[in-house]
Formats: sequence, C-alpha cells, structure tokens
Amino acid sequence: MEQQLKELRESAVIELAKADSLDMLNDLRVKYLGKKGSLTSILRGMGALSAEERPRIGQIVNEIRAELEGVIEAKGTELKEAELTKRLASERIDVTLPGRQPSEGHRHPLTLTLERIKEIFMQLGFTVAEGPEVEQDYYNFELLNLPKDHPARDMQDSFYITEEILLRTHTSPIQARTMQAANPNDPVKIIAPGKVYRRDYDATHSPMFTQVEGLLIDKNISFADLKGTLELFIHQMFGDNVGVRFRPSFFPFTEPSAEVDISCVICGGKGCRVCKGTGWLEILGSGMVHPNVLKMNNFDPEKVSGFAFGMGVERIAMLLYGIDDLRLFYDNDLRFLRQF
Ligand code: FA5
Ligand code: MG
Repeated sequence: MEQQLKELRESAVIELAKADSLDMLNDLRVKYLGKKGSLTSILRGMGALSAEERPRIGQIVNEIRAELEGVIEAKGTELKEAELTKRLASERIDVTLPGRQPSEGHRHPLTLTLERIKEIFMQLGFTVAEGPEVEQDYYNFELLNLPKDHPARDMQDSFYITEEILLRTHTSPIQARTMQAANPNDPVKIIAPGKVYRRDYDATHSPMFTQVEGLLIDKNISFADLKGTLELFIHQMFGDNVGVRFRPSFFPFTEPSAEVDISCVICGGKGCRVCKGTGWLEILGSGMVHPNVLKMNNFDPEKVSGFAFGMGVERIAMLLYGIDDLRLFYDNDLRFLRQF
C-alpha cells in the first residue's frame, strides 16, 4: 500500500505540473482528491491493514493530500495570472477616446408656454382644475346657456361621438363642472388647462389645440376685475410694451363679452398672414358669467357675480416665440423642436 501511495503521488505531481488551464487543473483535483478520486479509494482499503500499520499509512495519506492541495493552489494562482496577462495583452482600452453622449430630451414649446401661464395665475391665487376631453353635450353646451338648436353652436364645429357625447370644443364645460361641485356660498377661483377639438385647419387653427379656462366667482366682481387680471397676465407674459385690445364680442355664457387681441409680434403690427393683415391676433375670449349660467349651476346671481375667460395656448406660444404657423407644433420635426 505504501508503494501504491508513492506511485500515486508521483504521477499526480507530474500530471499537475503539465496542467495548462484552470479547467484541466480542476479535472485533476477531482481525479486525485475528489470523493471518488484515487486517494479516497486507497483509503477505503485501509480496513485490511493491521492496527499498528493503520496510523502510519493514515499519516502518509494525509501528507500526500496536503502536498497535492498545496501544489494545486500554487498552480491555480499561476494559471490565473497567466490568463489575465494574456487578456490584457489582447484587449486594449483606449482611455483617450471621447465618451458616448447620452441624447437629452426637453419639454415641448407648448408645455413650456402652459407652465408659464399656470405659474402666473397660481401666483394670483388661482388653483388648477381639470375635466374630461370626451364630454357630454350637456356640459359642453347646455349648462353654458347653449340649448340644442342655439345658433351660436355653429361658432364651434364639433366632433360628435353620439348625439349626446362629443370631443369638448372648449374648456368651458369645466366652468359648469367646477360650479356644480362647489359650495355656492364660497368663492371660486380656478384655471383649467387642457386639449380641445374643433373642425378647423389653417395657419392659426388646428383640429386639436390647447385652452386655459379661467373662472372667478365672488361677491362684487366687476368687469374691471376681469380687465385688470387679464392685462396683468398679458404684461407678465409678453412684457410691458405689448399692445392689448379688448373687443366687444358675443358668447352665450357671458354678458357682456369681450375678445382680447394682442399686437402681432410676428410683423410688429404691420400685417402678415398670422394676423391676417390686421396687426392683431386674438388670444382669448372672455366676459362676465351670464346670470343664467350661475343659476343653472346653483349659484345665486343676486348675491354673487363672476368673470370667465378661455385662452388659446398655441396662439400665445406663437407670439411668445415668433412662430408663423401653429401646425409646426404638431409636425414633430426635430429641426423645429430643438430650438426651444
Ligand atoms: C371659446 O372657446 C370660449 N369658450 C372662450 C370663453 C371662455 C369665452 C369663457 C368667455 C368665457 P373661442 O372660440 O373664441 O372661445 O376660442 C378661444 C381661443 O381659443 C381663441 O381666442 C383662440 O386663441 C383659440 N382658438 C380657437 N380655435 C382655435 C383653433 N382651431 N386652433 C388654435 N387655437 C384656437
Ligand atoms: Mg374667438
């Protein structure tokens, strides 16, 4: 048995010296030291030895095991280092190469405009309300003093889904929704931004566009409050030098009503295709909330009064950035969008 162990040790040392990869080294470890390896199977034969021989042979086995484990570890370290050196030689990293730029997105000009509008009104104490884009005829028209067959419905060519449901043509239904949800003894002071839809299409009209509604109801609100609020807004938005014009108009849900134009910044007021040669561009409709609208929505026109407005965000963005065709906002042309 001693002889057997001696031979095993010798052949193991020779084979381990020849191992030239970590895989091969591992196979040899299993072959000699593994559970079913050569050394273990010799150990199994120890039962046949005499009681005096057993500890001596056992000690030899332990010595061989320790020696082989040491050889395997040293060889392993050597092979790992060799592999690393080989990899470093073949894979060269050029640390002077420029890094890869992640492409950065940014907000759309309409979003930027909307954020500025919201900021100005929130500083004035308005809160933000919202409503559905698919709206009932009842809220979009009827509660705004526009019964079925009212001729003023023709001012807003609409997309109907059923006879009673349509894509909202303005953000004014949120006036009705807000009043219905409010306590009629409390003041109301909201703006309501959102998308609206009409059958329109030209340089200043798009089939989907953005409005911001405003509604303020309280005791003793007058047209002077409406005018002061909107003038303050326009001057904060466009600076003190822009021209503002209140023009008498008609909306069934306000009385009196006014549309507000600002001087055309595209042509400096000389007249161009954006202002249709007039030097002015309409940005919003407004007026004092009609008593019928207050009444239909549970407010008492004897006790309170209010003003409302609805502004076109695309028109404001056009004037803010000097853009002469509102359809550019929706073309998704990066050459255009990257400029903001
Ligand atoms: C209205 O929609 C009223 N609801 C506004 C209002 C609210 C009046 C509250 C009184 C009280 P008008 O149809 O004029 O009004 O539209 C308001 C603004 O939306 C216009 O001044 C214009 O700036 C913008 N606008 C209208 N149609 C389009 C369109 N197709 N594309 C882009 N902007 C539009
Ligand atoms: Mg109008």
